[in-house]
Parts: sequence; C-alpha cells; structure tokens
Amino acid sequence: MRVVILGSGRGSNAEAILQARDAGRLGRAEVVRIFSDQPGAGILALGPRFGVPAEFLDAAPFRTKLDGEGERRYIETIDACRPDLIVLAGFMRVLKPPFLAHFAGRVINLHPSLLPSFPGLDGIGQAFRRGVRITGCTVHHVTAEVDGGPIIDQAAVRIEPGDTLEAVAAKVHSAEHALLPAVIARLSEAR
Ligand code: GAR
Repeated sequence: MRVVILGSGRGSNAEAILQARDAGRLGRAEVVRIFSDQPGAGILALGPRFGVPAEFLDAAPFRTKLDGEGERRYIETIDACRPDLIVLAGFMRVLKPPFLAHFAGRVINLHPSLLPSFPGLDGIGQAFRRGVRITGCTVHHVTAEVDGGPIIDQAAVRIEPGDTLEAVAAKVHSAEHALLPAVIARLSEAR
C-alpha cells in the first residue's frame, strides 16, 4: 500500500508513522512521499532522516484551503506518486470536491478530538476550555464536510482535574502517535 503523507507542521505524527515502519509495525504500508504546504515545516526534515523524499508543494493562491491552481498542482503531483492512501497528518487546509473525487476513498485525516465533538481548528483547546473529562483523537475518511467523514478509529484520553492545556495536549499527541500508525497498518492488511 503506497502511502503519501501531507502535513503543515512539526510532523510528530509523520515521525510516528516512520518509526512504526522501522519497527516493522506498519503492515504492508510503504511511505513513498511527504509533502508540505509550508516551506519551513518540521515535517520536511523527516525526509533525509528516514530516507523518504520530502518536498514543499506550493498550495498558492489560497491560505487555508486547497483550491484552484494549488489544487491542480497537488492532484497532478500526488497522482504521479500512485498513492493507495493519502494521510493528512496535521495538514491544515480544507480539501475541496475535485481533489476528494480524484482520490475518492483514499484520503484519511487525523483530528485531535473525539469527533463529532470539537471539529475545526484547535480541537485540543476547544475540549480543554469546554471542561470535558474525556477527549482524544480520531482518524476518519475525508469528505467535503470538514471533519465530518466516516470514523475509522478513535483513542480516548482522560483529562484529570488540574491538568494544564499543555498536559492535555501531550496526552492527546501520544494517543495520536499510537493510533495513526495502527490504523494505517490495519488498512494495509485489509487490502
Ligand atoms: C495533530 O495534533 C493533528 O491531530 C492536528 O495537527 C497536529 C499535527 O501535529 N490536526 C488537525 O488539527 C487537523 N484539523 P504534527 O505536525 O506534530 O503531526
């Protein structure tokens, strides 16, 4: 199963995927490429470390969505990688129907809350401020409804009284680092 990872940030989840690969815990999945819409993103530094081509891919002209010229560039470049699965690991842009139709059923996203609670930006902060006692993370299929596609799997995290936002974020991230590689491994074995 050929996997392409898209991310905008530090890439700790992409790193967890590649560590799982190196530990033989990624099933039949092979990470063939990493792309980032941010030229200085930490995720791009994983390329040389793990021997995976990693590149900035310009998503201009829009800032928060993938549309128009940028969308066409993404479709064409990713298509050339012949992906069986596209993993959004902290990719902070909304994907539009042309991209989703082109890669129908092949795009999954990681979100830092127990969806359908706290979709959108800052899922961890939203849950923390709302005072919920249990939050977590979700891996779901991507549809045109933002954070609304069918859920594949989730992991729960307990918020203890006195936990700071930073403490909750650390718990959610470590749950993500276990969940996402496990889901990818499972999808690869199910093919
Ligand atoms: C992760 O917490 C992921 O759930 C979140 O971005 C972070 C990326 O971290 N994604 C979203 O909020 C998507 N709406 P990373 O760059 O260290 O993997």
